[in-house]
Amino acid sequence: MEFPTVVVCLVWFFSGILASAQLTTSFYKTTCSGKSAVDHFKTEGEEKAVANEENAWGLPCFGFIFHDCFVNGCDASGSIRRHCQLHRKRKTAQPNNGSLRGFDVVDTIKSKVESVCPGVVPCADILAVAARDSVVALGGKSWGVLLGRRDSTTASLSAANTGIPAPTLNLSGLITSFSNVGLSTKDLVVLSGAHTIGQARCTSFRARIYNETNINSSFAKSLQANCPSTGGDNNLSPLDTSSPTTFDVGYYTDLIGQKGLLHSDQQLYNGGSTDSQVTSYSSSSSTFLTDFGTSMINMGNISPLTGSRGQVRTNCRKTN
Ligand code: HEM
Ligand SMILES: *[C@@H]1O[C@H](CO)[C@@H](O)[C@H](O)[C@H]1NC(C)=O
Ligand SMILES: *[C@@H]1O[C@H](CO)[C@@H](O)[C@H](O)[C@H]1NC(C)=O
Ligand SMILES: *[C@@H]1O[C@H](CO)[C@@H](O)[C@H](O)[C@H]1NC(C)=O
Ligand SMILES: *[C@@H]1O[C@H](CO)[C@@H](O)[C@H](O)[C@H]1NC(C)=O
Repeated sequence: MEFPTVVVCLVWFFSGILASAQLTTSFYKTTCSGKSAVDHFKTEGEEKAVANEENAWGLPCFGFIFHDCFVNGCDASGSIRRHCQLHRKRKTAQPNNGSLRGFDVVDTIKSKVESVCPGVVPCADILAVAARDSVVALGGKSWGVLLGRRDSTTASLSAANTGIPAPTLNLSGLITSFSNVGLSTKDLVVLSGAHTIGQARCTSFRARIYNETNINSSFAKSLQANCPSTGGDNNLSPLDTSSPTTFDVGYYTDLIGQKGLLHSDQQLYNGGSTDSQVTSYSSSSSTFLTDFGTSMINMGNISPLTGSRGQVRTNCRKTN
């Protein structure tokens, strides 16, 4: 075997090992001042920001981790922008401009982590921790976030929408889109519970409130007041009507009352195979909150970049 071939083989062999490296909760134990990176992420200021209601609306930006993970694996590849669109709108009352409130939080955390351990913790892991902390701050249960992901070297902002399930999908379409990334039907029902917080634009639910029959009619009427059949595309309504700023089972209770906001939400309770799981979560908050952590870990394991692949971004908004 010639020398270069040996090198190539070795590189291939080791990159294979690194590529299949497992994520772990203690990934930064030795590389970030002997502490777990998680400890560096939270500061008193952020705790407060998180607890405050206005920011609670901003936090749903944690949903960007969902979009991120569904696109190329959880690598901070660009879903961030799209996911935080709502916040930009809300803050400036002007589409496509203004600051990304939820993302400001990520920037702040990133700069804190950089000041302690420069160049060590990628944005993809910061997002995973921020998502967990958002859930906890809004009343959910904690889970051990697995760490060791790296950031993508491509921004792929325009490609970021492919692979993300559309709100117009029916149950079998939703199940397929989750199974395409290795997630189960159970994960689908649990993770959709993230819609216990946050809001959607009129354009995301208009067809449902004017044309669908599996919706409570007085609920539909009340939504129509803020979402006309034409115009008002960016008007917002909460995804969980009963308790929009708490991480609880209100989302499932809503579904049982045919008060799911999105078409895709109501698909989870529409006479199909997932009805029983919705019913069971609606009456067991602790089961839901525990399962949510488990499914977030599953989602966080969708083809992460590990080892020497990818990069550690300096600025979470762009590649180095
Ligand atoms: C099951 C498939 C899913 C579909 C079809 C879906 C669809 C949507 C849509 C259409 C919106 C409103 C966007 C807008 O109107 O601009 C939304 C918002 C949101 N989604 Fe999902 N989603 C899904 C799953 C998830 C998952 C798994 C998570 C997190 C784990 C998540 C977290 C969020 C959050 C937090 C918001 C609110 C964002 C805000 O208030 O700014 N979603 N989703
Ligand atoms: C967005 O906001 C920035 C700063 O506030 C401003 O300079 C820019 O012109 C705005 N862009 C649009 C499209 O409104
Ligand atoms: C779900 O949607 C797909 C694609 O639009 C369609 O082919 C299928 O028949 C639908 N399934 C049900 C049960 O409605
Ligand atoms: C409701 O359905 C009708 C008939 O399919 C369609 O013409 C109309 O645009 C739909 N309305 C909304 C708001 O989607
Ligand atoms: C629809 O919701 C309203 C208001 O919560 C409730 O009073 C009514 O009983 C519901 N209608 C049906 C058919 O469930």
